Amino acid sequence: MSPNSRPDVKTAAALKDQDPEFQDLLRKIVISHAVNELYGAQVFDEPAIVLAPTPYAKWLTCRVAMEEYGHHVRFKELGVEMGIPEQQMTPQNKKPLSIFEFPLKTWPEFCVIKLLADLAEILQVEDLLHCSFLPLRNLARMTMPEERFHAQFGKDFCTELCQTAEGRQQVQDAIDRYFPMLPAFFGKSGSRNNERFRHWSIKQRKNEEMRADFLTRARALVVDHLKLKLPDLRAEAA
Ligand SMILES: [Fe+2]
Ligand SMILES: [Fe+2]
Repeated sequence: MSPNSRPDVKTAAALKDQDPEFQDLLRKIVISHAVNELYGAQVFDEPAIVLAPTPYAKWLTCRVAMEEYGHHVRFKELGVEMGIPEQQMTPQNKKPLSIFEFPLKTWPEFCVIKLLADLAEILQVEDLLHCSFLPLRNLARMTMPEERFHAQFGKDFCTELCQTAEGRQQVQDAIDRYFPMLPAFFGKSGSRNNERFRHWSIKQRKNEEMRADFLTRARALVVDHLKLKLPDLRAEAA
């Protein structure tokens, strides 16, 4: 393979003939998704079933939790095919992302998490739709409609909550506390790791480009649609 040609690997078995850096970066991204999908389901989606206020909301929240556990299962299965030991794909052995440190206590907080964190996840999955490893592209294609449903769930329930003054206040308060955690989700600007991911066409966009896109899309939801405020981001990842 010439240095500038993009690999296109069709199966996990074919990976072993590839450059060690390419293999290593793919292992990293699969481990990260497997760990974070599982941890998110454990700390947010499953506990939210109890917080959901109506049978209808509980039903949809069960579906969200089922799908988030399902994302873990799919990424883990791919990881196993790639020869990654299962224990490396659990939150016990790899620290989950900081966006999961938010202490979920209320239903409006969960709705805001789905509105904003699942939008951030959609951006990541969009990037993987064009990745140079076919099994990961296929996984992104299967996952995308479900992540879109989660973000729509967040938008619909936030819109409903905002019909009352108390609900509006609760949604704004959750946005004020949760939104500042999200820009860091995209990694550092000028990241060397990200440059290597792009070199191998595993990722397509720079961290800073994805963060800027996220901020534009989050503003459209929070400011234009919900008519709420986005907090200032002094602590944004540099
Ligand atoms: Fe997910
Ligand atoms: Fe999701």
